[in-house]
Amino acid sequence: MERENFGSKIGAVLAAAGSAVGLGNVWRFPIETGQNGGAAFIIIYVLCILLLGLPIMISEFLIGRYTHANTAGAYRIVSNGSPWKWVGRMGVFTGWFILCYYVVVGAWTMHYTFLSVTNAFYEVPAQEYEGIFDRFVANPWVPTLWLFLFIGVIHYVITRGVQSGIERSAKVMMPTLFVLTIFLAICSIMLPGAKQGIEFLLRPDWSKVDSTTILDAMGQAFYSLSLAMGCLCTYASYFDKKTPLAKSAVNVAVIDTLIAIMAGFIIFPSVFNIGMNPNEVGAGAGLTFVSLPNVFQQALGDGSFLAVIFSTAFYFLLFVAALTSAISLHEVATAYVAEEFGFTRKKGATIVTLVVLVLGTLCSLSFGPLSGVTLFGRNIFSLFDDLSGRILLPLGGMLISIFAGWVLDRKLYRNELSNAGDLCTPYFKLLIFSLRYIAPLAIGLVFLDQVGVFEVFK
Ligand code: PFF
Repeated sequence: MERENFGSKIGAVLAAAGSAVGLGNVWRFPIETGQNGGAAFIIIYVLCILLLGLPIMISEFLIGRYTHANTAGAYRIVSNGSPWKWVGRMGVFTGWFILCYYVVVGAWTMHYTFLSVTNAFYEVPAQEYEGIFDRFVANPWVPTLWLFLFIGVIHYVITRGVQSGIERSAKVMMPTLFVLTIFLAICSIMLPGAKQGIEFLLRPDWSKVDSTTILDAMGQAFYSLSLAMGCLCTYASYFDKKTPLAKSAVNVAVIDTLIAIMAGFIIFPSVFNIGMNPNEVGAGAGLTFVSLPNVFQQALGDGSFLAVIFSTAFYFLLFVAALTSAISLHEVATAYVAEEFGFTRKKGATIVTLVVLVLGTLCSLSFGPLSGVTLFGRNIFSLFDDLSGRILLPLGGMLISIFAGWVLDRKLYRNELSNAGDLCTPYFKLLIFSLRYIAPLAIGLVFLDQVGVFEVFK
């Protein structure tokens, strides 16, 4: 089967950045930063990116580009038939799994964009926002309809192919995302009281930093860069031989971090503007769909034109961020199904979409009609979230770093990294050192933390 490549280097970087920049940048990073020592947290986060994130991202790029195959096929090729081939299959499985719950939140961003544009938050009392969200997610029909629409958009992009679908959409959506982020950040910093918000986000407070903070920063860096889910490996399989791997990885990490910090500039000035305590705004869905709609109305004038524009732009930004990440997750599974089972791309994508429709609907209904279905005290959505984020992700990351550092042929690594000798790679030894020692150890600790081992000793 003819395999497509990305048509340009910028297209390749934008697509990978689209995978990295997602909900995690907006609903987790800013609040974690504010509560964990501001600039102190950012410094630790950047160190995690440099020491663990980049070496693993470069390795995933390298394995994908070297093999020009889907993630499972890629690891089968580089593992020479050894059990390491399972790392690739695990990546595909993790990506597919994450997609099933990620689309649920993507659908919520569409609904909130719709509510914002129709000025539905006008004159809603502050205490009502929680009820609005709870009733929405518990409704058996409305979230499911948005879910089908969201998955439909992903399916459309994927079936258009690598260049006309993924690359072209990234070239439109990523600049849109930058413009929206800058617009929203500027509006927010101009609000009275913004200074306090920026201080909350940036003032370094090392007293807040402890071992948990460092583990949090590592976990966040990992999730935010879309590591260990086959996305980067799959996208890199469409890179051409001239794409500089390390430079592309640095570009993706810089874009991802900048957007995450700017999301903080959007959120906290408005939170402080209305005199709200930032520690009470929550994180994740609570922050995004309960606190923020209220914050925006109050800060910008209830029902005002500015509030409508700001709120619409914010949820549309989230929608775009979620969509580009979801596309990358879908592509991991599509490339796998199509190539490993010999289907056409369209047929592979259809199979993936059908599975995501079924499992995604179950995740979505777990807030309503299926809320009684639980395992280990978690509903279906949380099970998907926890299993992938807490267990499969760190485990996959650790295995990738061990494989790349200890098993993968060193000459092959260097040759691929330097584009067959075209580029200088003065950082090579440090990279390998990190892959061999720092990354497996650090990720191992995150893993133990995520599964709750350290809780026992507290
Ligand atoms: N990196 C995305 C975020 O920060 O929201 C989430 C994500 C996308 C994770 C794609 C994993 C992935 F493969």
